[in-house]
Amino acid sequence: MSEVSIAWVDGALETIDQRALPQQLRPLRITTVDQVIDAIQTLAIRGAPAIGVSGAFGVVLAAHAFPDDPAAVRAEAERIASARPTAVNLAWGVRRALSRLDEGAQAVLDEALAMLAEDGRVNRAAAAHAADLLQQLLPGRPLRILTHCNTGRLATTAFGTALGALRVLHERGALETVLVDETRPLLQGARLTAWELAEAGIPHRLTIDSAAAWAMATGQVDAVIVGADRVTADGSVANKIGTYSLALAAHHHGLPFVVVAPESTRDPHTATGAEIVVEQRAAAEITHVAGVATAPEGTAVFNPAFDVTPPELVTAVVTENGVVGRVRTPRGTDGSVASGTD
Ligand code: MRU
Repeated sequence: MSEVSIAWVDGALETIDQRALPQQLRPLRITTVDQVIDAIQTLAIRGAPAIGVSGAFGVVLAAHAFPDDPAAVRAEAERIASARPTAVNLAWGVRRALSRLDEGAQAVLDEALAMLAEDGRVNRAAAAHAADLLQQLLPGRPLRILTHCNTGRLATTAFGTALGALRVLHERGALETVLVDETRPLLQGARLTAWELAEAGIPHRLTIDSAAAWAMATGQVDAVIVGADRVTADGSVANKIGTYSLALAAHHHGLPFVVVAPESTRDPHTATGAEIVVEQRAAAEITHVAGVATAPEGTAVFNPAFDVTPPELVTAVVTENGVVGRVRTPRGTDGSVASGTD
């Protein structure tokens, strides 16, 4: 099976409808800005790098729809960039494609195609750096790694970030097994990561999110690896809800907590995690499972799609350029105390 999950074919964005997995590998063909926005908001296309590149192709579609009206293209671009607030990649992708608008629609397309080509290269490089780091921190035996949400080829355009690092470790014979959080409420781990790991032949077990700390306590996890939607200037990491709990648990157990993301996920313009806008999603994602009510009608909910992990709980953020700043050595790997070593 191809590792690529986004393509530009005959004037349309072609991808996989992530809502349909794991039951169906359903292609999705997008030809309008409204369809791009709907796909991003309903998570047919999801994952920070994937929505970034898709946002760029959204600008391409807008440039074709309004060939003589740059103001209209810019207004459409603004609508696309605001489809979801937390992942900085979306606004980044839109802005980058839009930066070529003055040169014409073909230049906008060229930029989006360049981003598409870059993404796979960037992910492979970040994944290799993250695998190197984990092998340095935990030398000697194949690793048991816990991951959350989906950071694979579906969440990017190819290969994946944190899941890409799992691919690299597996290729090197350095991965024993992956513990996959199901990732409530939309089950990106169960539906998408378990599907991708099976596709890649990587050994894994699925677990409920609330079993993660217990898996660490009972010695079943050597490290935690996740992706990111935004990394602020102070090193705070916005990622799928549940990531912060994992970081706290990993810190308590002295386990490396490694974040893998492209440079485009770093947001130097946002100083701290407190400034990140965390998307709140519909109540029905929690009150219903597959359309069936699992809570009394009218139950109020708290449904943040993301949380923010403070830098002191993060062992390292790894991008295509390697480790950002310094590694905070978790106490389990050298006997030192995690928060005091950087
Ligand atoms: O709501 P989602 O599924 O788009 O959330 C995705 C995540 O939190 C991912 O971990 C993140 O975007 C990184 S994907 C390489």
